[in-house]
Amino acid sequence: MAKKIAVLVGSLRKESVNRKLALELQRLASDGLELEIVEIGNLQHYNQDFDANPPQEWVSFREKIKCSDGVLFVSPEYNRTIPGVLKNAIDVGSRPYGQGVWAGKPGGVMTSSPSGIGGAIANHHIRQALVFIDVPVMQQPEAYIADAFGIWNEDGTAVAETEKFLKSWIDAYESWVNKF
Ligand SMILES: Cc1cc2nc3c(=O)[nH]c(=O)nc-3n(C[C@H](O)[C@H](O)[C@H](O)COP(=O)(O)O)c2cc1C
Repeated sequence: MAKKIAVLVGSLRKESVNRKLALELQRLASDGLELEIVEIGNLQHYNQDFDANPPQEWVSFREKIKCSDGVLFVSPEYNRTIPGVLKNAIDVGSRPYGQGVWAGKPGGVMTSSPSGIGGAIANHHIRQALVFIDVPVMQQPEAYIADAFGIWNEDGTAVAETEKFLKSWIDAYESWVNKF
């Protein structure tokens, strides 16, 4: 049976290149993985006061992560760190204390940017949070997608060189998931 992978996209905008990359990973993944983008834009800001009576959106989000066999983070870099919306989702899934939903889910991190360094700093800031929530992250290959506006064919698919990399990356991630 295919492994269910929750994909979190760190950008909410309609034309997000990170969402496009997530959709490409979905398209290129083998039958062994079923990628689902889990929306995070509707999650209220994390507030510990709500732990006793959490908003329905938090409950559904936590349930989706709980039911997944792995988690992928595909994100831009905002001001050299993690976009707030993605950090909020990580925080929501990490609480109440002792009941976090992330631990042990094999993870992967991809960042992209129109600039040359492909969101590398955000990539490592995401990895830093994953240490504490106990997500074992695929170390190699790393994925920093540079020139993120220039890697698309007219039909919305990635150009051949990028597609080849995305395919090799998602296949490596599948091997990583299968180790768990
Ligand atoms: C608030 C904000 C901060 C940004 N900071 C960075 C940054 O630190 N590094 C970077 O490479 N790009 C930065 N950018 C540019 C983004 O990489 C670019 O807008 C990208 O398209 C966002 O990803 P998306 O297309 O998935 O929304 C920033 C954009 C915004 C809106």
